Amino acid sequence: MRVLLTGGAGFIGSHTALCLLEAGHEIVALDNLNNSSPEALKRVSELTGKQATLVVGDCTVEADVEKVFTEYGPFDAVVHFAGHKAVGESVSIPLEYYRNNLNSTLVLCNVMKKHGCLNLVFSSSATVYGTNTQVPLHEDLPTGCTNPYGWTKWMNEQILTDWSHAEKDVSVVLLRYFNPIGAHQSGRIGEDPSGIPNNLMPYVCQVASGKLQKLHVFGNDYDTVDGTGVRDYIHVCDLANGHLKALEYAVEHKGVEVVNLGTGEGYSVMQLVHAFEEANGIEIPYVVDPRRPGDIAICYADPKKANEKLKWQATRTLTDMCRDAWNWQKQNPFGYHGDENK
Ligand code: NAD
Ligand code: UFG
Repeated sequence: MRVLLTGGAGFIGSHTALCLLEAGHEIVALDNLNNSSPEALKRVSELTGKQATLVVGDCTVEADVEKVFTEYGPFDAVVHFAGHKAVGESVSIPLEYYRNNLNSTLVLCNVMKKHGCLNLVFSSSATVYGTNTQVPLHEDLPTGCTNPYGWTKWMNEQILTDWSHAEKDVSVVLLRYFNPIGAHQSGRIGEDPSGIPNNLMPYVCQVASGKLQKLHVFGNDYDTVDGTGVRDYIHVCDLANGHLKALEYAVEHKGVEVVNLGTGEGYSVMQLVHAFEEANGIEIPYVVDPRRPGDIAICYADPKKANEKLKWQATRTLTDMCRDAWNWQKQNPFGYHGDENK
């Protein structure tokens, strides 16, 4: 297959690029480098010995998307990763989130249609389950969101579902990711957040490296195993493999499928911290702070559908995730730029 990856220079996109190249497929990434570095795909090329082509351009700009299809196509399928993803930021600048995350999809689908490329895998999120407390979360539960970022995912799911209903040859797989962490085992590609990380694992890694002093645990009074929030952490390489399986499914089937990508297991913040300490022999100092607004107590996937439909399941453990995340952090203390002031 020849696959276009929008947002392909980002965290999940670069790991998926590597996975697809290793499986013998060809990839082209379209990324405006708003939250990523060209270095990621350079390293993917080095690791695989294959060409991970990067086209710098914006998915909300029709001419940019058109140019990729004309100059680098034809494509058998597209994985649409491109978008803004910070929940807190989306509350501060909602219009920018709606503009980028919705316009990119509309522009992309119109260009895909024009070029007869009708197979799409979309990066959705477990955030669309909103405040649902019925764990494990399965795909048929009602959805709803608590922040503009979440609504952009929810609206994109609706847009793509409507498109697939209207045009019988369209194939869409909506992947609801749980909490992707870790890095490729080489330590050459990984998550490179700018500024102080919002998410738990990159924060823990920066405490381990001494860049940050201590972890702030957001609440220990939830109704969970130890009072701290429970999430379904999934190794980014397992997640990447889920995209390979979703693409194989998309080119063989028409219509729309919503599929969770999670392990089905929940771990608390403190369980993750202890797993990290054990896997890497590093102590993580922490303090307990009040709950973070908008957080829910427990979130983990029912992963059965992914197993049945996509023939996929996660294989890596929490220990693997902690080891690989730290391996990436210690080899690249300042991310791809190697620049302390980033
Ligand atoms: P990321 O920020 O590392 O990757 C997104 C990429 O999209 C970046 O390289 C960015 O430069 C690019 N981009 C943004 N807007 C663009 C535009 N208009 N045109 C071209 N490129 C654009 O994020 P990620 O963690 O790799 O996430 C990938 C996708 O998965 C996103 O859609 C995100 O919302 C979704 N997702 C992520 C998580 C997570 O925890 N990482 C969880 C659920 C869903
Ligand atoms: N947490 C801390 N301290 C931190 C950061 C996080 O205690 O410094 C806790 C949170 O309270 C939560 C858990 O660690 O209990 C995980 O938090 P993350 O921020 O890592 O992840 P979330 O589950 O809040 O959200 C992530 C992505 C969302 C996505 C969601 C579901 O950031 O974009 O997973 O896929 F929607």
